Amino acid sequence: MTRWKAGLLAAGLSLAILGPVIGAAIVPVGTVAPIGDLEKEAAFQLKTLEGLLKDSASFEEMTHRKKLIPRAAGVLAVVGQTLAEHPQKSKTKILGTFLRDAARKVVTAKSYEDATAGLKEMKEAVEGRGKGEAGPDLPWNKLMSLHRLMEEVEERQGELRKTFVAVGKGQELKPSEAYHATTLALLGIVTIVDNHEVKKKEEIPEWESMAKEFQGQLTSLSKAMHDKDSKAFTTLFPKIGESCASCHDKFRH
Ligand code: HEC
Repeated sequence: MTRWKAGLLAAGLSLAILGPVIGAAIVPVGTVAPIGDLEKEAAFQLKTLEGLLKDSASFEEMTHRKKLIPRAAGVLAVVGQTLAEHPQKSKTKILGTFLRDAARKVVTAKSYEDATAGLKEMKEAVEGRGKGEAGPDLPWNKLMSLHRLMEEVEERQGELRKTFVAVGKGQELKPSEAYHATTLALLGIVTIVDNHEVKKKEEIPEWESMAKEFQGQLTSLSKAMHDKDSKAFTTLFPKIGESCASCHDKFRH
């Protein structure tokens, strides 16, 4: 058995025995997410949420309330968690744990008032103003639902497909767009940990191995974009599509 496989098996065993662990124990976020990408993603999702929460009618609309709002807020919770665990967190004014906790309030908001109060707190966290105590550690599989996560994954992969087509026509990669891949790589960490769709316990290591491969490909994709390495990008992008398909074949019911 290779060391890599042994490590994977050990990680699988510890998950099976200990239940959910924090993401940093699985993938160190400092190697996945540049701070600048996290700041861009936070701004991007906050803008989306502001639109969705522009008035109470927009909040009450079923697809907004059930899907788009918890999805955008869920991604913000993942960004907050990432910053909270990030070795370079002092380089940004965003308060990761406060952002995560405020985002979770929006994910679970039952009323327009709760949702807008959470949004206000998120903005404060992004500006570096956190009030009160930050909440306790949360496991990565308690940040957002896998359904909402997969919908975001599909949309962001679609965003990167445009880049794939443009690169095929000879355009240069834009590092300013790498945050799409970085966010996917973070959602990949959540996917490794959130194995609740696996019906047979003995198949959890297989889930983890698939999700880890997927996550690793996405980290490499983000790096390729930052390095303007078109060759690496065009080789990797179709492989990511294959990873979606093989996991769905095996685990999506
Ligand atoms: C490690 C396994 C795994 C990988 C990798 C994976 N998925 Fe999924 N996906 C699932 C499972 C399991 C479900 C069913 C989850 C559910 O319905 O709650 C799912 C559901 C979905 C859904 C339906 C969401 C919904 O609202 O029910 C979409 C869309 C989706 N995946 C897109 C993708 C795309 C695109 C990729 C690759 C870029 C991908 N997935 C990679 C496991 C995976």
